[in-house]
Amino acid sequence: MEVVIAPGAELARIAADAIEALLRARPTAVLGLATGSSPLAVYDELARRHTEQGLSFARARAFMLDEYVGLPAEHPERYRNVIEKEIASRVDFAPGAVQGPDGLADDVIAACADYERAITDAGGVDLQILGIGTDGHVAFNEPGSSLASRTRIKTLTRQTREDNARFFDDDITQVPEHCLTQGLATIMAARHLVLLATGRGKAEAVHQLVEGPVSAMWPATVLQHHPHVTVLVDDAAASRLQLADYYRETYAAKPDWQHL
Ligand code: GLP
Repeated sequence: MEVVIAPGAELARIAADAIEALLRARPTAVLGLATGSSPLAVYDELARRHTEQGLSFARARAFMLDEYVGLPAEHPERYRNVIEKEIASRVDFAPGAVQGPDGLADDVIAACADYERAITDAGGVDLQILGIGTDGHVAFNEPGSSLASRTRIKTLTRQTREDNARFFDDDITQVPEHCLTQGLATIMAARHLVLLATGRGKAEAVHQLVEGPVSAMWPATVLQHHPHVTVLVDDAAASRLQLADYYRETYAAKPDWQHL
């Protein structure tokens, strides 16, 4: 697990560099897209590189991590609409190239199985962008999630619904109670995981993710079992890391030829 501690704008550039390098080496790459505020600066940077430097997503594909259950198709906080607004509509993905779990499916179980199959049929995710919840969830895998879980329906914790109420007029009753989410094993199958976290509110979750014991109580800790994880954090999110100085020294001494 590589931990990079840098200012927020720099983190977005580092993540965008990794995605750009992947797309230039393999234009048909499969990306994993996350919602939440953490990846927004990365999406801004990718959109800028598309407009100003011709970075193309035309042959790439993308899979979303998760989706609320039951939000109307046109609801602005439906994750499919959020991803469309924040990144898909700003670059040149081909029609249908960005997919997400179907939170409006009549048969939720079949929709989850279909989604797993679609990811597998696409050859798996090359680079997965991730955020982290204050309770250590990734995607919507809440504490107690099986570390071997696959895409399925989950009930959101009160903490997550409170955290996300800011997107719903600060009204927790408007935040759906259920979601469809890639499981932890689904996420672990991606070839490179790039997790972003900023702000003091994420400090404990980041500490557990990097330095805590692997436990379903902090679902993100399963990433310690992945061979290629990059954790991008600002000073505030890094403030509880016991080995912060070591991570800073390691990154400062990183050879130029060694990429993320
Ligand atoms: C939501 C999303 C997660 C995201 C988390 C953190 O619950 N399902 O994918 O990582 O929020 O969001 P933020 O980046 O806004 O703190």
